[in-house]
Amino acid sequence: MKEKVLVIGASGMLGQDVCARFAPHFALVTASRQTGDVLLDITEPASVRQAVADVAPDVVILCAAYTDVDGCERNPERAYQVNAFGAGNVASACAEVGARLLYVSTDYVFDGEKSDGYTEWDAPRPLNVYGASKLAGEEWIREVCPRHWTVRTAWLYGTGGKCFPRTVLNVARRGEPLRVVSDQTGSPTFTWDLAGVLLEMVRQRVPYGTYHVVNQGSATWYELACKVVDLARAKGLISEAVSVTPIRSGEWLSPTRRPANSVLKMRRLAWTGLPLPRHWHEALQDYIQRLDL
Ligand SMILES: NC(=O)c1ccc[n+]([C@@H]2O[C@H](COP(=O)([O-])OP(=O)(O)OC[C@H]3O[C@@H](n4cnc5c(N)ncnc54)[C@H](OP(=O)(O)O)[C@@H]3O)[C@@H](O)[C@H]2O)c1
Repeated sequence: MKEKVLVIGASGMLGQDVCARFAPHFALVTASRQTGDVLLDITEPASVRQAVADVAPDVVILCAAYTDVDGCERNPERAYQVNAFGAGNVASACAEVGARLLYVSTDYVFDGEKSDGYTEWDAPRPLNVYGASKLAGEEWIREVCPRHWTVRTAWLYGTGGKCFPRTVLNVARRGEPLRVVSDQTGSPTFTWDLAGVLLEMVRQRVPYGTYHVVNQGSATWYELACKVVDLARAKGLISEAVSVTPIRSGEWLSPTRRPANSVLKMRRLAWTGLPLPRHWHEALQDYIQRLDL
């Protein structure tokens, strides 16, 4: 008999790819606030407890979060309510029914001051409310649900949601110039690739604990935008030359401080023997091929 997986945040960008990847291998139950097999708000402890008890999953994948980074800065109360308290509610409910929990976290738990990337053993020091609230979620889960994996990922893009490459494409297709931050470096990651690794981690039952999972290589937002434009031009999606101008973080209006270099190293995933995700260049090309434009 197939094991049962409950995906919370199934309607989100990553959640959709997680569902597509897990569906052939597990009995899948989807949950979100508005759509899915179960309607669920993770900030309501009683309903989370009831839903998890009713579904009785073997594994819970927690993709739900308050992901609007600037929104978190403006509304810290809500950020902690969803990203810390919500994660804690799910963790307690999992512990009660003995479910394994996979929690998706972020590179923004780090301050970005390290020049050569962060391993799973580097000390977190978030610079913004989003990162701090996700770190609080990590800690809450660690306290209440021993059978858990925390998977930190970064700079996500996918076919099922609003994301940076999609915004770049939209602007470029309108023929408008782009001004893009060139002093922040990270690990751009395709949700389809991340979801594939999450599937294998759960199937192979890798040891519990904290993992970094991203596409290989690193880029600035500017380099990522240039690559999107190049690939889109090669595919004939952009007819004219589009100008992409590098700017400094201070020139971009945002209430949020972001890490300068939050590249993630995948030490622990490598030790499991699972294949590492491909380079972000290849993943981005695949993403652009798959877009329904
Ligand atoms: N996007 C990135 O660049 C990035 C980078 C690093 C890590 N991550 C992490 O990766 C995970 C997935 O991110 P994503 O970009 O796929 O997110 P997303 O597209 O914004 O989706 C978030 C999901 O969370 C659900 N949700 C929000 N508040 C909820 C609540 N109170 N109760 C239940 N469901 C709620 C949303 O459902 P509704 O439809 O009901 O709103 C939606 O399904 C998150 O944990 C995020 O922190 C993301």
